[in-house]
Amino acid sequence: MIVCSCNVFSDGQVRACLHPGPGCPRTPAQVYACLGCSPKCGRCARTIRGILSRALAEVHATCATACSAACPLSAEPRAAPAEAA
Ligand code: FES
Repeated sequence: MIVCSCNVFSDGQVRACLHPGPGCPRTPAQVYACLGCSPKCGRCARTIRGILSRALAEVHATCATACSAACPLSAEPRAAPAEAA
């Protein structure tokens, strides 16, 4: 499905530029840059943000490790685990 009619890219292209690691786009602006374009009217930003949120939620749902607050895949840092007394 085309999500940006100005730059003509699809939801699949947005998901394809998401990859684990510190360079993974976290904002619509970073997605435009990843796809080699820039925002024009901005109507697609909310849709792109939704795709990012769902993709990150899927990664977290399958993450087998206890992520730290600094996990590079975290859109919102998780609370640090309580220290043992
Ligand atoms: S629809 Fe994406 S910038 Fe216009």
